Amino acid sequence: MNRALPYATPLVPAFVVIGFFVWFANWIPQTRWEPPKVQAISAALTPTELAEVGRTIVRQRGCLACHTIEPGAGVKGGGRGPNLAGVAARRAQGVKGGPGNLVDYLAQALYEPGAYLVEGYADIMPPSMAAPASLGYEEAVAVIAYLQSLGKTPTVKVGDVPRPAAGARSAQPAGVATSDPAAMFAALACNGCHSLKAGETLVGPALDAAGIKQAAAERGMGPEAFLMESIVDPKAYERKGFPSGVMPQDYGTRMNAMQLAALVRHLAAQGGQR
Ligand code: HEC
Ligand code: HEC
Repeated sequence: MNRALPYATPLVPAFVVIGFFVWFANWIPQTRWEPPKVQAISAALTPTELAEVGRTIVRQRGCLACHTIEPGAGVKGGGRGPNLAGVAARRAQGVKGGPGNLVDYLAQALYEPGAYLVEGYADIMPPSMAAPASLGYEEAVAVIAYLQSLGKTPTVKVGDVPRPAAGARSAQPAGVATSDPAAMFAALACNGCHSLKAGETLVGPALDAAGIKQAAAERGMGPEAFLMESIVDPKAYERKGFPSGVMPQDYGTRMNAMQLAALVRHLAAQGGQR
C-alpha cells in the first residue's frame, strides 16, 4: 500500500543520529566573542550610564576569559584571575603600599596589572590598553565605572580618571633574551594562557610538542610554520572551542626575527621531539 515506507524505514535511525548531532552542536556553549567594537563614549554620560557601557566592554574584550563575576564566590572564584564580584567593596581603600583609593587602584589594575599582584596570582594579566583588550582611555573609564558598580555605586565620569602613561599602550617586555626561549614564554605572558603540559587547557590550548604537531597537521602545515603563523597572525587560523580574538595580535611587533625563531624552535622541539 505505502511503497515508500520500506525504503524510508532504514533511514529513521540515521535521522535520529543526525538530529542528535544538530542538537549537540547547538548545545555546545558559544564561546566566540564579538570582534572589538569601538564605543563612542561621551563625556556627558553619567557614572551609571558609563558602567552599563563598561559592562558590555568587559564582556566583549576578553576579560571573562580569565575573570568570573560571581557574587558570593569569594576572591578566588573559578577563573584564572580573581572573581571580580565585590571588587569595589574589597578595594574601597585601595591596597597597602599601592594606590589608597578605589579609582586609582582600578586604574592601576588596568594600566599596569603587574604593579600590584593580588595575593596568590601570577603576573599574567595583559595591560588593558594593549592587545587583546586594546582599551582607549574613555573605554577604560567605562570599565572602571562598571568595576565600581561591583560592590559600590559608580562615581566616575570621563576626565575623572588619570590617563595611562604614554608607555602603557604596549606591553613591551624589557630586553627579552633570545638565548632563553623558556624565559620568553613567561616574559611574553604566553604562560598565562598556554600550558606546556599535554591536555591542560588554560585560556588557549596546551602547547606540548604532540599537541602542536597534531594542530599543525590539521592546518596542513609543518609544526614550525604553524607556530610561526599562530604567534604572528593568530587570526589566520583559530582553533574551534577556544575564545576567538583573545590571543594578542601584536607579538609580531614585540619580538625580532631571531627571538621569534628561537621561541618557535623551542616549542617545536620540546622533550627532544619534532
Ligand atoms: C590572561 C588572563 C587575564 C585577562 C585577559 C584579564 N585579567 Fe584581570 N587579572 C588577571 C590576574 C591573574 C589578576 C591577579 C594578578 C594581578 O593583580 O595582576 C588580575 C587582576 C585584575 C584586577 C584586580 C582584582 C582585585 O581583586 O584586586 C582587576 C580589577 C582586573 N584584573 C580587571 C580586568 C579587566 C577589566 C580585564 C579586561 C579588560 C582583565 N582584567 C583581563 C588575569 C587576567
Ligand atoms: C590572552 C591569552 C593568550 C596569550 C597571552 C597567548 N595566547 Fe596563544 N592562543 C590563545 C587562544 C585563546 C588560542 C586559541 C584560539 C586561536 O587559535 O587563536 C591560542 C592559540 C595559539 C596557538 C595555536 C595552537 C593550536 O593548537 O591551535 C599557538 C601556537 C599559540 N597560541 C602560541 C602562543 C605563544 C607562543 C604565545 C606567547 C608569545 C601566546 N600564544 C600567547 C590565547 C593566548
